[in-house]
Amino acid sequence: MELSLSLDGNLATPLHRQIDNQIRDRILNGQLEPGQRIPASRTLAQSLQVSRATVTLSYDQLISEGYLETRPGAGTFVAAQLPETLLQVEASVPQATTNNFPLHLSSYGQRIAQASPWQTQPAAQYNFRYGHPSLELFPHRLWKKLINQEMAASNHWMDYITDPLGYEPLRVAIAQYLTRSRAVTCHPDQIAITHGTQQALQLVTQLFVNSGEAIALENPGYLGAQRIFRSRDALLQPIPVDSDGIIIEALAQLQSKPKLVYVTPSHQFPTGALLSLPRRLQLLDWAQQNNCLIIEDDYDGEYRYSSRPIPALQGLKANAPVLYIGTFAKVMFPGLHLGYVVVPTSLVQTFAQARWLSDRHCSLLDQAVLTRFITEGHLERHLRRMRLCYDQRRQTLVNALRTYLGTTVEILGDSAGLHLVARLHIDLSDDEIIHRAAQEGIYISSLQIHNLHPCQGDFILGYTEIDETQIETGIQRWAYAIQGK
Ligand SMILES: Cc1ncc(COP(=O)(O)O)c(C=O)c1O
Repeated sequence: MELSLSLDGNLATPLHRQIDNQIRDRILNGQLEPGQRIPASRTLAQSLQVSRATVTLSYDQLISEGYLETRPGAGTFVAAQLPETLLQVEASVPQATTNNFPLHLSSYGQRIAQASPWQTQPAAQYNFRYGHPSLELFPHRLWKKLINQEMAASNHWMDYITDPLGYEPLRVAIAQYLTRSRAVTCHPDQIAITHGTQQALQLVTQLFVNSGEAIALENPGYLGAQRIFRSRDALLQPIPVDSDGIIIEALAQLQSKPKLVYVTPSHQFPTGALLSLPRRLQLLDWAQQNNCLIIEDDYDGEYRYSSRPIPALQGLKANAPVLYIGTFAKVMFPGLHLGYVVVPTSLVQTFAQARWLSDRHCSLLDQAVLTRFITEGHLERHLRRMRLCYDQRRQTLVNALRTYLGTTVEILGDSAGLHLVARLHIDLSDDEIIHRAAQEGIYISSLQIHNLHPCQGDFILGYTEIDETQIETGIQRWAYAIQGK
């Protein structure tokens, strides 16, 4: 048989590689079929005007890969069973299958099956989505360079990590960073690396809360945390917040004492209140007196625009009953999916067990690259830059809201974080306000989903993924749509 291949002596790819690549491609796309005979090496060499050794090299390669086989005295053939067939269970297009066998879910499984699915936020021309940092402004090139350097340096990142709490140098870097920037008191041995806040909350709840036990939490508060607490069948005790954060008197009036109290002191989610210093001290005293562990979720505390940051609750008093949780989702990018917990020393071993049982550990390569990002000063440089950028966007948003919505809007929680709350005094339902925004190409979300009680009129506006011109126009159009101005 004839096999016409095209070879180019000017390419960097050697001739024998060009031959075996082309034959392999033809086998894979079905032009050469299993069992089909291919030309003898001498014949192909003559027709391609290359040495026989070149063709033999290619054939040997394809034989070793399992694409060709020789039959003594008969010649060389496309293998009857291709290697691809052996690698696949079935060479068919994957299709959704339906099963009709009964699933006997655990009570945990049943609880989470009842939860409503997570909503994806649609793309919009004027995108006031919250909780996402600006991805364009992240130093992508530098990150890629660090990945490449780390991969080239050794293969250490390919193995399991022996310590489920995480990559030792990263834990050192985080402990130093938290000490200098958040006034957290900790030793690297107390740092556990997690897949973000979500996993941290999941582990903590698993370790501390039995079915029916109480957890006090800010209301409104973070839906992601509420869902975890519910999934463990905890009794949720919503505590109101005001402009100084969680109201401690309401906490003190609880009938059944909670096992945990979950708070976001640096920037209450979603109202944006900063937990005042007197309240921080009150909360610590109350927790100590009531044997309650405080879960401090410091998800975006790095972004403060006016006053100096108040030290984290965790570092405010010696031996404070606080478990501090942080995430890199907001200061880096969410897809990195890394966070950390500062674990009280007496809990370190148990936490390590739970961490291993959950999913062993986080990707070592990601942890190693992140370590360099922190220790070489890039994280704090990036943060300084982002703080300035977000501050300008925040001010533009505040001014636009005041200009176009005047006295019909109250602005809450705008001194820190990555979003603010616009409280509207307008006689329209939240759904209608969101619908009218969507018709103008604007994405805005109601605060309702984070409130355990019915509420109306509060909207969360993120300002990190939208530039100043779009902020101005977006708010002008929104105001017009809901006020008819
Ligand atoms: C209060 C709060 N904590 C934590 C997170 C993020 O957690 P993760 O690290 O799981 O992405 C968010 C996300 O918006 C949040 O609002």
